[in-house]
Amino acid sequence: MTANELRHLFIDFFVKKNGHKEIRGSSLIPENDPTVLFTTAGMHPLVPFLMGEKHPSGSRLTDVQKCIRTDDIEEVGDKSHLSFFEMLGNWSLGDYFKEGAIKMSFEFLTSSDGGLGLPLSKLAFTCFAGDADAPKDEESFGIWRSLGVSADRISFLPKKDNWWGPAGKTGPCGPDTEMFYWTGTEPAPEKHDPSDKRWVEIWNDVFMQYNKQEDGSFAPLKQQNVDTGMGLERVLGIMNGLNSPFETELFVDVIAEIRTLAGYGEVDESKMVSEKIIADHLRAATFILGDPSAVTPSNTDQGYILRRLIRRAIRNAKKLGIAGEFARKIAGIIVKNYGDYYKELELNAERIYEEMSKEEIQFGHTLDKGLAMIHRAMEKIIEKKEQGTSALGEDFCFEMFATYGFPIEMTIEELQEAGWIRDAAEKAMLIKNFEDNFKKHQELSRAGAEKKFAGGLSDHSEEVTRLHTATHLLHKALRTVLGDHVEQRGSNITAERLRFDFSHSTKMTDEEKIKVEGIVNDQIRAALPVNYAEMSVAEAKEKGAIGLFESKYGDVVKVYTMGEPEKGTLFSMEICGGPHVKNTSELGSFKLLKEEACSSGIRRIKATVGANAKV
Ligand code: ALA
Repeated sequence: MTANELRHLFIDFFVKKNGHKEIRGSSLIPENDPTVLFTTAGMHPLVPFLMGEKHPSGSRLTDVQKCIRTDDIEEVGDKSHLSFFEMLGNWSLGDYFKEGAIKMSFEFLTSSDGGLGLPLSKLAFTCFAGDADAPKDEESFGIWRSLGVSADRISFLPKKDNWWGPAGKTGPCGPDTEMFYWTGTEPAPEKHDPSDKRWVEIWNDVFMQYNKQEDGSFAPLKQQNVDTGMGLERVLGIMNGLNSPFETELFVDVIAEIRTLAGYGEVDESKMVSEKIIADHLRAATFILGDPSAVTPSNTDQGYILRRLIRRAIRNAKKLGIAGEFARKIAGIIVKNYGDYYKELELNAERIYEEMSKEEIQFGHTLDKGLAMIHRAMEKIIEKKEQGTSALGEDFCFEMFATYGFPIEMTIEELQEAGWIRDAAEKAMLIKNFEDNFKKHQELSRAGAEKKFAGGLSDHSEEVTRLHTATHLLHKALRTVLGDHVEQRGSNITAERLRFDFSHSTKMTDEEKIKVEGIVNDQIRAALPVNYAEMSVAEAKEKGAIGLFESKYGDVVKVYTMGEPEKGTLFSMEICGGPHVKNTSELGSFKLLKEEACSSGIRRIKATVGANAKV
């Protein structure tokens, strides 16, 4: 089975057999939710709809979502961990609940007619054991039993195993039921043992019925939803009888190219670890660089993760003896492998190759010097140890970062591999020197740096909703002042401010900034009503709506208008999922805080509304 066949099998099962609408997966960078750096699951872009906002494609949805999980980057190199992966998912937005979800999952897993055709004898299931926040999930247990699953193959587990979400600090979450496949070579044991790693999780049905609040409590959501996630790479491996995603068609030619470039005959265990790190990290980096959000390597936020991925890949390539520029060659294979399904990779191929090469050349200059410095430091450590003084200098990791661009994780890894970090306490000490220094450095270099990652659209606070509406007014005002080439390239909102990235190649003049601010404030004073209508993409385009069309929703979209055409006050018409205020007067006033370069051809504005705007 190929990856494309698996994607289509899943989508067809839900669309053709079960009345779902296919929607396009979203950007890797969550829009309007600063509580996480990357989209970590298919539910992420759907948070407003799980909270009760109406989705234009209806209440049954399915898609393939590209995801990045950064917690596990250090683990990559074994046979299963991936930093980038694709998640197949189906959703009920207040439509079917436990019975519908479990029955569909069971049919897709076991049926040979339009499903995976996996034998029931190799499947096991887990349900939520219950605690003070929510009861034991006897209902899911009963549904699995009614489908012929033996009680021995169903385990009840606590929150840490069988509860999912919220994706950020607050938001939709709930108990889940997980599905496991037996990967052992001998027949699966009668009784499910959740601690036996040969049982591999392949799918998760989450019953999203709670909203986690700021204070940590769980309030019931307006509606009972289902959110499911199946890991494409893992299932593809299983369907082809392979041990690891790295053996599937998604990786084989990448690994073959790495071997050719390294030119070695024998492959040993440690070389295989490096191969997997390179293949995984450059695949993730290719997808981040190819994303419409146009993130480039930097020292903060998503750009830092991207830099870390590319640099870790380069260091491992060096370990394998690969010389010269190689990252763009690997990226080329990835673009070719995925370009059919992910059009954005082909569209942005030049940017991907250029940024990869830039980072590779820049890091290449300092890599040798940096490694030499680590090794010199190690020698000093031996001397100090012999004298009985403390091991590593407190500023060491920060110096490596500031002078040689070594991400702290890389320095630590290098020290660890050489055996110079003896225990967790020593590692924690180094991370804490680093963090303190980094903080000082940040405070100095951007005085008054705003509070990061606080709040988000996922909590639907009034401030966030007001800033979201202001984003539409700003978008239109920029097009009025600068021209129609201005298009949204990214948006990120905290309770305190909005951040808006847009295509425009030159710095805005003071006059332009004053004009934009003035236009937005005029529209706030004009007290325009905010409304939306649902229509097809074609209709929205014809009416002149702006927005990121194709990359997002299904056939039907929501178009938000600010102002009324019949009164001649229509100001903005934009495709968007919402939510928004009812009237622009609720914004109070608008203030531009900053205008700066974001990346090549992209500018960034930070702005605020209401009381914050009156300073
Ligand atoms: N959101 C659930 C997960 O990521 C389905 O496992």
